[in-house]
Amino acid sequence: MVDVLEQIRKHAETSQPKLEPGIDVKAEIERLRKEKNAIILAHYYQDPDIQDIADFVGDSLDLSRKAAETDADMIVFCGVRFMGEVAKILSPQKKVVIPDMMAGCSLEEAITADDLEAFRAAHPDHLVVTYINSSVEVKALSDYVVTSSSAIDIINAIPKDKPILFVPDRHLGSWLEKVTGRKMDLWPGTCIVHDKFSAEELLELKEQYPDARVAVHPESPESIVEMADHVGSTRSIIEFAVNSDAKRFIIGTETHIIHQMQKLAPEKEFIPLPGLSDNNCKCSVCPYMALNTMEKLYVSLRDEKPEIVIDEDLRIRALTPLQRMLDISAKAQAERAKKTAAE
Ligand code: 13P
Ligand code: SF4
Repeated sequence: MVDVLEQIRKHAETSQPKLEPGIDVKAEIERLRKEKNAIILAHYYQDPDIQDIADFVGDSLDLSRKAAETDADMIVFCGVRFMGEVAKILSPQKKVVIPDMMAGCSLEEAITADDLEAFRAAHPDHLVVTYINSSVEVKALSDYVVTSSSAIDIINAIPKDKPILFVPDRHLGSWLEKVTGRKMDLWPGTCIVHDKFSAEELLELKEQYPDARVAVHPESPESIVEMADHVGSTRSIIEFAVNSDAKRFIIGTETHIIHQMQKLAPEKEFIPLPGLSDNNCKCSVCPYMALNTMEKLYVSLRDEKPEIVIDEDLRIRALTPLQRMLDISAKAQAERAKKTAAE
């Protein structure tokens, strides 16, 4: 993993495009997106400038839904590569470009299609539930795809007598086991950002700010999740912080999410939980997400590349478990809304 991070660091240093002197990147993006009928989708972990220029900012589930329903001709996906792949799986007739093809994810790297094929051959009775942070090849071998905000609904919809393998995030998997009461086999992958959060750091912050509420992403280790007032997807963390009566929050996820919280609740204070990285930087920035810059966004829109291309047979196989997630989560959401309306 250190080698991969070193590669990303070097790539980040050398991949920034050289642009014409004096160019107004923001104005050019505005002009080109109209001219090309393009939509810019961005994840909450993106740089604030990218979030601010995007047509839509969201968590993985909302971004997938947006990609499926857009009538734009081109999607510029500012997130990591698997998110661009999901957009292409759901909208094959659209051109999907991402600012930097090297923007991967440590969870995606934690399991290969060969690994999963070997597991399936050895455990033919298991259903495979795969976190969306995975390659298109791994999705194509899965029964269900989930995001952090849809996983509970999907797992609850699976017949109780079916054994489940959950891949690739063991922290998310063990949180889901607790919430759903469902025992699963867990693949041992982790997110390099959330896995670095330490319980000692969180305890210190809680002592320093006893009035603060703690909101964390379920990709965090169990010792962190246990101390949280709220655990959930990026969107749910924002909603919790904005809707809570508290005035101060410790946020256990990628730091750039705080940009939206500050916009929505400027009177509140958001303290990022620092991760203890190998070089002691105490940062909680995703190095893959950080590869995307405004300059690369502009160039990808201008040149319509790098483009996500997926073999059609593979795409159709990956679509089945992804579509199951969208259908089950939409149904569960509608049922919850109906119940709330009746109360
Ligand atoms: P969300 O689905 O909560 O947006 O999470 C995506 C992600 O990559 C978290 O690290
Ligand atoms: Fe992957 Fe972690 Fe980055 Fe999310 S924060 S994209 S899980 S490496």
